[in-house]
Amino acid sequence: MGTFLITGATGGIGSAIARRLHDQGHQLALFSRNAEKLASMKSTFGERVITIEGDAQSPDNLSHAVAAAKETFGELMGAAHAVGSIMLKPLSATTAEEFEQQWRQNTLSAFNLLKAVMPVLQRARGGSVVLYSSVASEVGIGNHEAIGSAKAGVVGLARAAAASATRYGVRINVLAPGLTRTPLSAFITDNELSSKASLAMHPLGRLGEPDDIASATAFLLSSDAGWITGQVIPVDGGLTGIRK
Ligand SMILES: NC(=O)c1ccc[n+]([C@@H]2O[C@H](COP(=O)([O-])OP(=O)(O)OC[C@H]3O[C@@H](n4cnc5c(N)ncnc54)[C@H](OP(=O)(O)O)[C@@H]3O)[C@@H](O)[C@H]2O)c1
Repeated sequence: MGTFLITGATGGIGSAIARRLHDQGHQLALFSRNAEKLASMKSTFGERVITIEGDAQSPDNLSHAVAAAKETFGELMGAAHAVGSIMLKPLSATTAEEFEQQWRQNTLSAFNLLKAVMPVLQRARGGSVVLYSSVASEVGIGNHEAIGSAKAGVVGLARAAAASATRYGVRINVLAPGLTRTPLSAFITDNELSSKASLAMHPLGRLGEPDDIASATAFLLSSDAGWITGQVIPVDGGLTGIRK
C-alpha cells in the first residue's frame, strides 16, 4: 500500500479517485480549497486520510500538502491532480483575463503540482503522477479556445516532465476526459439542449461518470501501468478516436 496526494479531492472526479484508492487500502492526502467538504470526506473515510486546505495555484500550499503527507504517512507514491475548469465561450467574447485564468487554473496548477511532488518521487526513485487534460486539447471543438489551449499546455508540460523523470523511474501521464457528469460540467449536463448535443458527440452513447476517470487513474497510479509514461489517454466514450 502507498500514499497518494489527490488535489481537487472534493470534486466529482477527485472524490471518485479518493474512494477507489481508499478501497484499495492506500493512504490519502486530500487537497482542495473547501475545508467543510474536506472535513466531511475525512469523517466518511475515517482512517488513512489527512486533509489539507489550499489552492493549487499556490506553490506554497502544494509544498505544504506534500510535507504534511510525508509527516503523517511517509513518502508519497504518487499524485492525481484533479483540479481544472471548463470554459466555453467564443473567442470574440473571451477576455485576456479569462484566458489567463484558464491557464492559471489548469496549466499553472499542474506545474505547481509537479514542482511540489517531483523532488519527493525522485528521491524515492519511483512513483506515478496523473494530470488531466480534456478532449478539447485533442480535437478542435468550437468555443473551447481558452480551455483547449490551457489543457494543451498541460499535455506539453506532462510530456516534457515525463521525459525528464525517466531517469528517476517516475512516470507521468495525462487522462483526457470527454464530458463527465461532475459539478464542474453540470452547467452543460443539466441543460437539455447542450446535454443532448454533447451526448451525440460521444459514440458509446452515454456521458462519462466520475468512476470512468477514477478507474483509469487508479490503473496509471499502480504498478500495472509500470511501462506507461508520457502518454495522453483519452477516456471519452470514443469521441476523439472513432466516427460511427
Ligand atoms: N467533468 C468533465 O466533463 C471534464 C472534462 C474534461 C476534463 N475535465 C478535467 O478533470 C479534472 C477534474 O474535474 P471535475 O469535473 O472533477 O471538476 P470538479 O467537480 O469541479 O472538481 C474539481 C475540484 O477541485 C477543487 N479545486 C478547484 N480549483 C482548485 C484550486 N485552485 N486549488 C485546489 N482545489 C481546487 C474544487 O473544490 P474547491 O472549489 O472546493 O476547492 C473541486 O472540488 C479537471 O482538470 C477538469 O478540467 C473534466
